[in-house]
This record gives sequence, structure tokens and C-alpha cells, in this order.
Amino acid sequence: MHLSRSLLSLHLVAAAAAAAVLLPTSPSLSQPIPPSQDAWYTAPSGWNGSAPGTILRIRQAPGNLTSEAQIANASAAYNILYRTTDSHFQPSWAVTTLFIPKTEYLSPSGRLALLSFQFAYDSADVDSSPSYGIYNDLAVTVPSLGVPSQTATINLALGNGWFVQTPDFEGPQAAFGAVVQEGHATLDAQRAVLSLAKTVLAVEPDKVTVALWGYSGGSVATAAAAELQVQYAPELTLAGAASGGLVTNLSTTLDGFNGSAIAGDLVSSVLGLMAEYPAADAYIRSRLVPATAAKFLGTYNRTLLNATAYWDNVDVYSYFIGGREDLFNSSVMKKIFAYDTVLGVYGVPTTPLYFYKAVGDEYCPVRETDALVNQYSATNPDITYQRNTVGGHVDELINGQPGAFEWLWGIFNESHIPLAACSIQNVTVNISSTNS
Ligand SMILES: *[C@@H]1O[C@H](CO)[C@@H](O)[C@H](O)[C@H]1NC(C)=O
Ligand SMILES: *[C@@H]1O[C@H](CO)[C@@H](O)[C@H](O)[C@H]1NC(C)=O
Ligand SMILES: *[C@@H]1O[C@H](CO)[C@@H](O)[C@H](O)[C@H]1NC(C)=O
Ligand SMILES: *[C@@H]1O[C@H](CO)[C@@H](O)[C@H](O)[C@H]1NC(C)=O
Ligand SMILES: *[C@@H]1O[C@H](CO)[C@@H](O)[C@H](O)[C@H]1NC(C)=O
Ligand SMILES: *[C@@H]1O[C@H](CO)[C@@H](O)[C@H](O)[C@H]1NC(C)=O
Ligand SMILES: *[C@@H]1O[C@H](CO)[C@@H](O)[C@H](O)[C@H]1NC(C)=O
Ligand SMILES: *[C@@H]1O[C@H](CO)[C@@H](O)[C@H](O)[C@H]1NC(C)=O
Ligand SMILES: *[C@@H]1O[C@H](CO)[C@@H](O)[C@H](O)[C@H]1NC(C)=O
Ligand SMILES: *[C@@H]1O[C@H](CO)[C@@H](O)[C@H](O)[C@H]1NC(C)=O
Ligand SMILES: *[C@@H]1O[C@H](CO)[C@@H](O)[C@H](O)[C@H]1NC(C)=O
Repeated sequence: MHLSRSLLSLHLVAAAAAAAVLLPTSPSLSQPIPPSQDAWYTAPSGWNGSAPGTILRIRQAPGNLTSEAQIANASAAYNILYRTTDSHFQPSWAVTTLFIPKTEYLSPSGRLALLSFQFAYDSADVDSSPSYGIYNDLAVTVPSLGVPSQTATINLALGNGWFVQTPDFEGPQAAFGAVVQEGHATLDAQRAVLSLAKTVLAVEPDKVTVALWGYSGGSVATAAAAELQVQYAPELTLAGAASGGLVTNLSTTLDGFNGSAIAGDLVSSVLGLMAEYPAADAYIRSRLVPATAAKFLGTYNRTLLNATAYWDNVDVYSYFIGGREDLFNSSVMKKIFAYDTVLGVYGVPTTPLYFYKAVGDEYCPVRETDALVNQYSATNPDITYQRNTVGGHVDELINGQPGAFEWLWGIFNESHIPLAACSIQNVTVNISSTNS
């Protein structure tokens, strides 16, 4: 059995009344506007009384996002603004972008495939949120870093016939680093899209296989969602979660960022935590070297690639009066680092898991992923973990991609057999051109 496009269209016609309300047929904006200047990125009044995952606004994605030059394998794209819950467990909202494939894949048992792809958008600037970043920073390759276009991955997933959604999981404050916020927003994005599928396509949630995927900055949101799901979204069935280049413990990773090609990530994650935590904001401002404080804080207005270029190889700790210890030896920051920037503390994912990591990862040490896999596997043995002996963090973004696609295919086509024991392999995969 195969769900043809016309059949899907029939569903759309059958639900025309709801569709007319929920799915606008033409873009409301001919060009995207940065979220900081786009009034659409505000919640309607009374929003905070709604349940997590409730759709608050929906529009067709601005401009020609699905044109040949951009996400060509999508037939349509929608921005959905939905209710979520921040790191303080207070009502918040976020936006996800849902891409419709040109031809839908249907599994042997008649399920659609929904991939939630968490971008590594690593920024405290709300204008780097994926719903806007897909038009610029996330669409380009960065030869100096060896980073490929992240939207190219989405195109491939859509080409498989998978629906794809890409949540702005850092939320309206761009709280980069705040793991609980990121996990909640990722889970609520699934709720929002599943409710849309039910209303518009008359497809019940159990006819959609949901899998999550993210690398690096996107891996945190992915793994956090898998950990938090058990308690925060128990009604949701996740069929699998794939995390590459996992950032298990931000504290360790910040030391790796300092002075590196992505030192901007250190600045942006401190700013992201300041945005989420007023106490951190007051404390960090009091510890910034006055002469350079404006430069540090100005990074709130630097998008991903702008900040990366600006902070290239900078000794970020020198921006603090007391150096590195200002960040790590403060009671305010210690608490945040312990409760909102580490994995392995919210719960054990019950879903099948796939991890891939370069043994030589210079930012997020492989030993930490080894430890997390070991911790999870005592409760959930359905873990496939590929340790690549080739390359570093950025190389693995490319080298690990085919393996992740293959594992996700197994989830979507229902061939994945639950593992009774965790499968850890040392592999040698070298397809990236930047390996040294
Ligand atoms: C929820 O909305 C009400 C009224 O709009 C407001 O007074 C309250 O502060 C809001 N709560 C949060 C957590 O935003
Ligand atoms: C979008 O596509 C329409 C029709 O194909 C075209 O007229 C318009 O110029 C395009 N806009 C941009 C920004 O490319
Ligand atoms: C679209 O998907 C097909 C696979 O079906 C793939 O070969 C093609 O490269 C994808 N297009 C883009 C622009 O990535
Ligand atoms: C995270 O890393 C820091 C620094 O490496 C360490 O002090 C802390 O104990 C780690 N936290 C966890 C939960 O492993
Ligand atoms: C931060 O990076 C600089 C290199 O830019 C290095 O000299 C310094 O020792 C690093 N600081 C710490 C605490 O590791
Ligand atoms: C960022 O830009 C906005 C608008 O231009 C400005 O109001 C704000 O002060 C800037 N923030 C920082 C930290 O520079
Ligand atoms: C980078 O961001 C700064 C601060 O907002 C802005 O002044 C500058 O024009 C940006 N540079 C580029 C190349 O976008
Ligand atoms: C950390 O802070 C404590 C108390 O505030 C202080 O005694 C200690 O010397 C500090 N450690 C470092 C390495 O700065
Ligand atoms: C990976 O392949 C490239 C050529 O494509 C080669 O230059 C490099 O040495 C290889 N790296 C490793 C670790 O084998
Ligand atoms: C399902 O996916 C797996 C993993 O990629 C693949 O080996 C298998 O051939 C696929 N089966 C079908 C029926 O497509
Ligand atoms: C993978 O390699 C490490 C050394 O890097 C070794 O300690 C470990 O036993 C190997 N694991 C497997 C499953 O072969």
C-alpha cells in the first residue's frame, strides 16, 4: 500500500474547512523578516493558559523557501508557533518549521515518517533561529570550518519522503545552552505537528513514526527531549533518537571552545544562559572586564556565522575579571551548569537510541559519551553507538551522516529490531575532505 500524493490531497480536501483555517495557501511574506523585527514572533493573548504543544499561530513559510535554490525537495513549508515550557518550568512558546515532502513515504504498516531535525544553530541571537536561519546561515557551507550546509541534510531527508520539522528549540530568548528549555521545545514541536496531522490530514498520531536527529548543538536538544519525554510528554511515542557529536556536559565543552575556531560558541552559550537566568545575567555583567563588556554583550546581535568569525581563536576567558574561575567557581553558575547544561540527569530515554562520535572530538570528549551510553544502557539497552576513529568534531558531522540516515531508515521502515544489549562499535569512516 502506498499513500499517493493525490490520496494525501484528498485528505486535505476532506478537511478543507480546518485546512483553510490552519494551512494558509500562500506566503504572508514575500521575504523573511528577522524574528526580532517580525511581529509574527509573539504569542497571542491568553496563550499561556493553553496546554504544551498547542498551536498558537501558523503561516506558510515566507518567501520561496521551497524553490529550486533552497529546500527543493519540499512541496510546502509552514511556520508553526506553539506553546512550550522553559527551563524554569514556566509557560513559554517556540516556533517550528514543518516541511512537506513532494512524495510521502509510507511504511509497511501504513505510517508516515516525521523527522524532527534539530539544527546546530549555536547562537544567543534570536535572529539565528532556524525558522529564519534556514534562509541564510544554516543554508551555506563554511569552507573555513569544513561545515557543510545544514539545509542540505533536510533536502535529503525530504527526498526520502519523510516529513521534516526543525524547531527553534532555544525559544524566544535564544537560550543557547539551556538544556531543559531545548528538550521541552523539541517535544512540544512533535505535539504541535501531530495535532496538525490529525486535524488537517485526519492522520492519527499512531500513524506517524516520529524520530529525532541532531548533531552537536542539535544533539543536546535531541538527547534532552529523549530524556525528558518520559515525564514531560508521556503520551508521545518517540520511535528513535539519533545524536551525533553529543555535548554531554557544557562545562567540559566550554574549555574546548575557548581559543578555538568556534570560541564564539562559548560567548553565545554564556549569553544564552544569561537570557534564561536573570541571576546569571546580573552575575556575569558584574564579572565582565568593563573595557570589553560591550563587545561581549554585543554578541546578542551577532548571528551564528557572524559571531563565529568575530570570536575566531579568541581567549574568551580573558573577558572576565577573574578569568575562567568567574564562570566555573561561582555559586550562581555552578547551579545552572549542574541542572541545566548536562545530560544524564533528567531521566533515561525509553526510545531506541543511536549515537555517533569521533574518538578525536576536540570539543566534546568521547569519554563523556562513552559514560552516558554506559549509564543509559543499564536501563535501556536499545543503543547503537558508533565511535569513529577518523577525524574530529566537524569531520564527524559529515562522516557520521550516512550511518545516521541508515539507522533512521530502519526506524521509519520498521525493520529496527530492539537490541537486548547495547551495540558499541569502533568504525573507520572517512568521507569528509577535511580530515587531517
Ligand atoms: C500569563 O498570562 C497572564 C495574562 O496574560 C499574565 O498575567 C501572566 O503573567 C502570564 N504568565 C506567564 C508565566 O507568562
Ligand atoms: C519567488 O518566486 C516568485 C514566483 O516564482 C517570483 O516572482 C519571486 O521573484 C521570487 N522571489 C524571490 C525573493 O526569489
Ligand atoms: C532530493 O532528494 C533526492 C533523493 O530522493 C536526492 O537525490 C536529491 O539530491 C535531493 N535534492 C537536494 C537538492 O538535495
Ligand atoms: C561536568 O563537567 C565538569 C567539568 O569538567 C565537572 O566538574 C562536572 O562534574 C561534570 N558534571 C557531570 C554531571 O558529569
Ligand atoms: C583560553 O584560550 C587561550 C588561547 O586563545 C589560552 O591561551 C588560554 O590558556 C585558555 N584559557 C584556559 C583557562 O584554558
Ligand atoms: C541589539 O540591537 C538592538 C536593535 O538594534 C539594540 O536595541 C540592542 O541594544 C542591541 N543589543 C546589544 C547587546 O548590543
Ligand atoms: C555582524 O554583526 C554586527 C552586529 O550586529 C553587524 O554590525 C555587522 O554588520 C555584522 N556583519 C556581517 C558580515 O553580517
Ligand atoms: C573558588 O571559590 C572559593 C570560595 O569562593 C575560593 O576559596 C577558591 O579559592 C576558589 N577557587 C579558585 C580556583 O579560584
Ligand atoms: C581521510 O581521507 C583523506 C582523503 O580523502 C586523507 O587525506 C586523510 O588522510 C584521511 N584521514 C584519515 C585519518 O585516514
Ligand atoms: C529498511 O532500512 C534498513 C536500514 O537502512 C535497510 O537495510 C532495509 O533494506 C530497509 N528495508 C526496506 C524494506 O526498505
Ligand atoms: C574501541 O576502541 C577502544 C580504544 O580506542 C577500546 O578501548 C574499545 O575496547 C574498543 N571497543 C570495541 C567495542 O571494540
